[in-house]
Amino acid sequence: MRALLLGLLLVATSGGVLGAQTLPQQGSAVHLGTATCGGSTCHASTQPWKNSMVLQNEFVTWSTKDRHARAYGSLVSVLGKRIAANLGLPNAHEAKVCLDCHADNVPEGRRSKQFALTDGVGCESCHGGAERWLGQHVSGTGGHAENVAAGMFPTEDSASRARLCLSCHFGDENKSVTHRMLGAGHPRLRFELDTFTAAQPAHYRVDDDFFKRKPSPTGVQVWTIGKAMQVRSFMSMLADPKRNQDGRYPELALFDCQACHHRIDGEAMPRPRAALPGRSSPRLNESSLVILQVIADQTKPEMGTLLRRQTAALRSAATSSMGALAAAAQAIADSAGAMVDHLAQYPFRPGEYAALLGGVLDQADVAGFDDYAGAEQATMAMSAIITEMDRIGLLSGDQRTRMAAELEKAYSAVDSDIAFSPQIFVAALQGIARARPIPPVPARRSYLVPGVRR
Ligand code: HEC
Ligand code: HEC
Ligand code: HEC
Ligand code: HEC
Repeated sequence: MRALLLGLLLVATSGGVLGAQTLPQQGSAVHLGTATCGGSTCHASTQPWKNSMVLQNEFVTWSTKDRHARAYGSLVSVLGKRIAANLGLPNAHEAKVCLDCHADNVPEGRRSKQFALTDGVGCESCHGGAERWLGQHVSGTGGHAENVAAGMFPTEDSASRARLCLSCHFGDENKSVTHRMLGAGHPRLRFELDTFTAAQPAHYRVDDDFFKRKPSPTGVQVWTIGKAMQVRSFMSMLADPKRNQDGRYPELALFDCQACHHRIDGEAMPRPRAALPGRSSPRLNESSLVILQVIADQTKPEMGTLLRRQTAALRSAATSSMGALAAAAQAIADSAGAMVDHLAQYPFRPGEYAALLGGVLDQADVAGFDDYAGAEQATMAMSAIITEMDRIGLLSGDQRTRMAAELEKAYSAVDSDIAFSPQIFVAALQGIARARPIPPVPARRSYLVPGVRR
């Protein structure tokens, strides 16, 4: 009985805010192909329509500016071919392991005549197979809710969107970029929902009308929910004995690359094998967990305390057994799931943004400036917060200019793992700390000494 109740409880929570919607690649709807969406009187207008709720030139934005349109092309590029060869695959453009993320790789039976795999990550990879909603969508008989009921994926919902993007930008039960693939030359994956949403680039206009039609969270909420979802995905993979495995070792893509590598490009110089798990314990990639800690401390302090305890447990479990590691990871995945529900309801107040920014600055300090993945996540976090502060008018013209310049500096410092410059990153943190719109609170630690690790 207890097990049954627990089971029901789990079903209840996972069917909630976390977005139970089937991802576009799964499910049963036929995918009609981008050509179906891209008629000139549909979404392929060359100019945005003046009197329309949506821009109608989405196809043009996607096909000319969005890297997703080139995702299939990457599989036949020089690098794509080299990765495939290194992995012993006949080629990349017919390999399921590559197509699952670089194209709308639904099974043969779910492809219409117009469907083309070469379209890469097309409209229906994100918006869902159009078979059952296209009719009412074109005739205008239903609104967005009706479309979603007929199988359109709710990309406007942050948790659902995070799950969708993360399925390719981190991985899920069905696919991932493993250490073997990284070793074969695949670029390291990085992700942050708000930043990547902005970078896609947007083929839609988020204005008053958009908010009326689609009650959507603000940028900071997108960032925080995305972060909780990211930690949940990461910890679920760590907790899964099938996915967290590479022969006798755990899946090294989940660890801090620098724990073993001095450089993490193709010329990587692994330290002696003694550094592998079992003999000593390399650190996990905690870059997203660290940021979620900041968000919890600010919005739900008791969760902050719990996460701190669970993080300590995870670290000590990493040196004990795979079973203990899985249990510790699962506990954090559950906390992250609870944070998603919490954040979806949390009424962020403008006064909190400076505190969140301060938290990220402090954490970047605690985490150590030679931690590349941490610096990268801290930069995207600061960018999400500062953009929102600016949007709601919390920054003076001068602050805005200075913050933008310092952010630019931080971005250039983390531009590539090979060229990562802790010094430039530290200087940018100091600049942001000085420019923020509150009297600079004395920092808990000094930002002056790069290279100090936990
Ligand atoms: C079906 C898999 C898939 C999904 C779903 C997906 N992406 Fe991507 N995304 C990719 C691939 C593959 C690339 C790299 C394309 C290439 O080969 O250049 C990419 C590239 C990007 C880039 C460019 C990154 C860079 O370094 O310039 C951004 C930004 C991006 N995606 C954002 C998103 C967002 C936001 C979402 C969710 C709304 C999303 N993606 C969903 C597969 C996916
Ligand atoms: C879990 C999803 C996933 C899988 C599986 C995957 N990729 Fe990728 N790949 C991505 C994403 C996401 C990017 C973009 C990374 C970024 O810029 O942030 C990418 C980038 C690339 C790039 C660099 C594109 C560019 O122009 O910078 C190449 C080449 C590539 N992938 C080839 C492959 C090959 C070959 C395979 C199969 C062995 C494969 N990928 C499997 C998600 C995936
Ligand atoms: C990588 C994922 C991704 C791809 C690929 C993609 N979209 Fe979107 N789309 C989004 C997201 C995220 C939003 C913003 C949230 C929302 O409105 O649902 C969006 C919004 C939209 C909107 C709604 C705008 C509004 O104001 O309501 C339209 C229309 C749209 N996309 C059409 C397209 C078309 C047509 C294509 C293919 C040419 C396409 N999208 C490809 C992710 C994607
Ligand atoms: C626990 C140690 C460890 C961690 C953590 C680790 N690697 Fe590795 N990596 C190795 C070893 C050892 C090799 C040598 C190949 C082999 O025998 O697997 C290697 C090989 C590589 C190679 C190929 C190098 C070459 O010259 O062919 C690349 C690229 C790479 N790793 C990238 C990464 C990235 C990116 C990360 C972080 C996501 C990472 N590694 C995490 C130990 C590690």
